[in-house]
Amino acid sequence: MIERQHWHPVAGSEAIRDAPFAVRLLGEDLVLWRDPAGAVHAWPDRCPHRGARLSLGRVEDGHLECPYHGWQFAASGRCVHVPALPAFTPPATHCVKAFDVREAHGLVWVRLETGAIDLPAFAAEADARLRKLNCGPYTVEASAPRIVENFLDLSHFAFVHEGWLGARGASAIADYKVEETPTGLRATQCKAWQPQSNLHSTAPAQVEYTYEVTAPYTAVLTKIPESGTTAVADWRESIALFIAPVEAERSTCWFRLAVADFDSPDEKLRAFQDTIFRQDQPVLESQQPKRLPLDLRAELHTSADRASSAYRRYLSRQGITFGVHP
Ligand code: FES
Ligand code: CO
Repeated sequence: MIERQHWHPVAGSEAIRDAPFAVRLLGEDLVLWRDPAGAVHAWPDRCPHRGARLSLGRVEDGHLECPYHGWQFAASGRCVHVPALPAFTPPATHCVKAFDVREAHGLVWVRLETGAIDLPAFAAEADARLRKLNCGPYTVEASAPRIVENFLDLSHFAFVHEGWLGARGASAIADYKVEETPTGLRATQCKAWQPQSNLHSTAPAQVEYTYEVTAPYTAVLTKIPESGTTAVADWRESIALFIAPVEAERSTCWFRLAVADFDSPDEKLRAFQDTIFRQDQPVLESQQPKRLPLDLRAELHTSADRASSAYRRYLSRQGITFGVHP
């Protein structure tokens, strides 16, 4: 399963402190914990002794301690203490298998198999002029690919986000371009008429976006500045959608904002994203089948949907099987 070699977000960095933390990824239970040096570890949430959940244990003396018989595991994964036999030195084979972990974009990322695939790109992260803020997590009873498609979809604004991101009287979608990229696809010249294109806009505006898929379950929206409206024309505000494929039909997602607004409180920016996402959620959870059909004959398409059709072809080419129908 190629998605095991991709990096996936599993938790907000701030959630991993001094207690073990249970997460699920691609249908597997993992335990995350942070050692006293600050490094995060991701292991199967199953003690190799008798199978108890390590996430029910605690961090003790810089080791993860199992809740059942108190075996302690060091950051390396090795068992270093068996309380029933205090004088016993466990052999190297008494260990857990650690997964690769990274922290980026305010999130903890894990891959279940080591490979050559890098973290999904999010170019705006490196722009120091943009403020970064995470919104979420949102737990959704929908497959990760259905959520990506919703994010790429311009023609739902007038209905799902009526009065916020669209209006019924302005539902037409102008032609836009879609191209493949080495890691996914890019849709450019995506234009929409929006009553309120962001938190601060006071008048309706025609906005232009670029959408990119940079990993199977990651998409990035970049707003093209309206000419003459911004002092610094090369600012490119972006929103990344990062999704944890928890189960084939359940996901957790975050939005990472990279915006020029340094004034609004975090809660205000989050409240806007929360509102938009809560509008999408019931529709997303209603879609059947929950797994995205990759056979293009299974659902109907128009030219306004070419970003989502391209996304389905990309998932097919990649050999993605989790959250999709072959
Ligand atoms: Fe973990 Fe026994 S099951 S120490
Ligand atoms: Co939406």
